[in-house]
Amino acid sequence: MVDDKVYWENFYAQAKMPFKPSLFSRFVRDNYLRRNDLLIELGCGNGRDAFYFAQNGINTTAVDQCEEEIKHLNEIKQQDNLRFECGDFTNLSDDRMFNAVYSRFTLHSIAEEQEDKVFKWASNVLSKSGYMCIEVRGMQNELYMKGKPVEGQENAFIYENHYRRFLDMVKTCKKLERNDLKVKLCVEKKGFSPFNGKDETFMRIIAQKEKNRFY
Ligand SMILES: C[S@@+](CC[C@H](N)C(=O)[O-])C[C@H]1O[C@@H](n2cnc3c(N)ncnc32)[C@H](O)[C@@H]1O
Repeated sequence: MVDDKVYWENFYAQAKMPFKPSLFSRFVRDNYLRRNDLLIELGCGNGRDAFYFAQNGINTTAVDQCEEEIKHLNEIKQQDNLRFECGDFTNLSDDRMFNAVYSRFTLHSIAEEQEDKVFKWASNVLSKSGYMCIEVRGMQNELYMKGKPVEGQENAFIYENHYRRFLDMVKTCKKLERNDLKVKLCVEKKGFSPFNGKDETFMRIIAQKEKNRFY
């Protein structure tokens, strides 16, 4: 199995990723967040969206597995309402509460078993009416089926030495709803994240926590 942590560590060491906030972060902020909300970002990468949220008055906790990158981000950050944590987002404790869980281009990096854990965890840490915000590669994505299938995993492939699992939209929505996360928006199309002259097809899902945690 390809070691994806090493892949990302090397990637950030080259510092080639854009620092501009993603279109998805702007969309989420404009439509689903209010000042002083508590947001956790899963797999924050170089922190571009986390900085954007914090600069716009959102209390932001951003998690990534890449130690060096997290150390660097904590050194350069200037906002009090922003913290970077090194960790595995599929294994977070549920002793904190948030108004929003934000995951951009990270669910396709993990196996379905881990995704199940993340949805359960998200449902536990979201306060009533809080949002789970996802942008991800789905089965309409142009890279779907490219590379070598991963044995024992549905819709997962190794392509150019990198693991990707392409989400099935209907299945993912059903799974969110089983976790008390009511799907408010679910779209798979082009135009969400044009990059380097390419406009691939991606999926956005916004789901809202229906009940209080302990009911
Ligand atoms: C494609 S990048 C996306 C970065 C950022 N969300 C963005 O949109 O710019 C995926 C990130 O998820 C992180 N990641 C993948 N699996 C992880 C895990 N289990 N725990 C923590 N971080 C993880 C990687 O280290 C990488 O930084």
